Order: sequence, then C-alpha cells, then structure tokens
Amino acid sequence: MRHVPNLETLPLPGTTALADDFGASVIEGLSRPQKTLPCRFLYDARGSSLFEEITELPEYYPTRTEIGILKQCAAEIVDGISSGDVLVEFGSGSSLKTEILLDHIAGRVTYMPLDVSESALSEATARLQGRYPALDIRPLVADFSNLPELPDEFAGSNKTGFFPGSTIGNLSPNEAVALLRSFRNVLGDRGRLIIGVDLKKDPRVLVNAYNDSAGVTAEFNLNLLVRINRELAGTFDLAAFRHKALYNPRAGRIEMHLVSDRVQDVMAAGSRFHFSQGETIHTENSYKYAVSEFRELASKAGWKPKRLWTDAGEQFSVHELI
Ligand code: SAH
Ligand code: AVI
Repeated sequence: MRHVPNLETLPLPGTTALADDFGASVIEGLSRPQKTLPCRFLYDARGSSLFEEITELPEYYPTRTEIGILKQCAAEIVDGISSGDVLVEFGSGSSLKTEILLDHIAGRVTYMPLDVSESALSEATARLQGRYPALDIRPLVADFSNLPELPDEFAGSNKTGFFPGSTIGNLSPNEAVALLRSFRNVLGDRGRLIIGVDLKKDPRVLVNAYNDSAGVTAEFNLNLLVRINRELAGTFDLAAFRHKALYNPRAGRIEMHLVSDRVQDVMAAGSRFHFSQGETIHTENSYKYAVSEFRELASKAGWKPKRLWTDAGEQFSVHELI
C-alpha cells in the first residue's frame, strides 16, 4: 500500500508494485480451460473513465438508485461518526457518492480513499480537496484484497468503512466472506461498515444493465484487451472479439465475457494463446443478493447486520454492519 502525494503530482513512484502482477495474472488466467482475467484490471485510466460513463447510462440503475438511498439516509448513516474518526473507502473510484456523507462530516474526519486506479484516485482527491479544503485526505493506491494495516497514527481512532457500488458483487461469495473479514481486521472491533449491495431482480433488468444500447459496457470490457495490447505487447484483434453479458441464475450472477469470433492465436506477455471460435474469456462476475443472503454472508465474516436502507422498488440495498 502506498500513500499518494496530494493532488497533481502524478505519475507516482511505486505504481509498478500494482502493475507488476498484470503479466503473470494474464498468463495464468489465459492458460486455464475457461480463460479468465481478474476484473480489477478493467480499471486503467480509460477503464475508470468508461465506468463513470456506465454509471450514467439509463440501463445501469445501480448508481442512481444507491445515490437516492444515500441522499435520503445520509443523516442516519453518519450518525455514528464522531470527531477524529476515520472514514476508509474501499474501491473509492470517483468518490462521488462519498460527497453525500462528507457534506455532513468533512470538518471532523480523516478520509482514506483506496483504489487500484491511480488516475481515479488522484482526480477524486484533487476534486475533494477543492470542495472540502479542511478535510484530511489520505489516498492510497492499493488492492483491497491484499490490505496491510493502516498507519499507526490511526490505531486509536474509530473507523467506519464505506464500500458502495456493489463492488462486493464482483467477488465470489467465498472471496466476499474473506474480504469482509479482512475489512473487519482493518477497521477493528469497534469498526462499522456501510456497504452497498445490488439486489436480485428480474433477470431482464439485470442483463440490460450490462448490455447497454450505447455500447459503453462493451467498450469497458474490450478495453481490457486494449490494455493487454499496450502494456503486455499483446496482439489481440479487437474486431475479432465481442462483449457478452448473461445472467447465470444458478450462481445468481451476471457474467461478462469476451467471445472470440473466430479460430485465432494471440500473443500476450510473451506467451501464445489459442482460441477456438466462440471460446470466451470470462472477465467479470457481478453477484446479486437477496437481503437475507447478504446478511448471512456478512455474519460468516464476523459482522453483525444492523440497519438496512433500500429504495422503494427494492432494487438496491445499503447495509450497516457492526
Ligand atoms: N465506489 C465507487 C466505484 C465503484 S467501481 C462507486 O460506488 O461508484 C469499482 C471501483 O473499485 C473502481 O474504482 C476500481 O478501480 C476499484 N477496484 C476494483 N478492484 C479493486 C481492488 N482489487 N482493489 C482496490 N480497488 C479496486
Ligand atoms: C464496479 N462493479 C460493481 C460494477 C458492476 O456492476 O458489477 C462493474 C461493472 N461492470 C459492468 N458494468 C459495471
């Protein structure tokens, strides 16, 4: 984990610590019988910017629905946050939702946004520092699946974790339990977690949210191949792969794939990979939970579910875990 010097001093030293495992992960993932790539690599600068576009699409209901819930319940959510506390956000991205909370507490907390996307983190830090000049911001470029301890100076502080966006859905249920357990270790016994979770619903609504008519989600998915071509001397022909999103009802998840339209060999990270026609690279899962399913999962990780906020249509949920 690395501290980002404030504001505009980018590119930052040490970024390669995160970038270095890209090549090894691509070789490992593309060597499996079901080719796969970890979804955290979707978020280079272009990927982060495409994700922001996704959040504004008419089909992509989660962002606007969660923002509506947060706006309605912000006073209740920040209720337990006192002066001197630390707000730690995992996968903070643009930190736009965080402003809804910071409007209530910016003068009295330290805000620690954490993300693998250095560009998203630095842009958000600059914007927030302008909007809340007195806010102590400690951005960290880090993989939340591999969390080190927070700096010693916060050892005695109460910590609230914030994990909106249903990013927890991008992990398998077992991985999600392990992640929530690690958040508990970092946030401490007195810690609290506010977490956004997308709910199970009509599969047609789900599939449309990941198959938008403007093609932005397709570009977001295909950008992973653009990134491999650029960073790992890849030879992916972008015209020979297409985006596919489907709902897997047995697993309760949306799956994103990149489908090879023809038989082809592709070089990446110095290795050759063979694709048959129709073969896919599985690039992302997005698990959807019923409220009771998610509460059970959080309990397995040692959290106690407390308050719950949802929208009137019960599309999305925000859970308080203690
Ligand atoms: N929390 C924001 C952004 C959600 S998008 C919101 O609700 O709108 C998911 C974010 O998680 C992206 O910014 C991405 O870069 C980040 N991310 C994905 N995998 C990550 C990982 N393993 N460690 C840290 N950040 C990660
Ligand atoms: C960040 N994450 C919760 C998004 C999701 O809905 O699973 C990423 C995304 N993938 C395609 N569209 C959005």
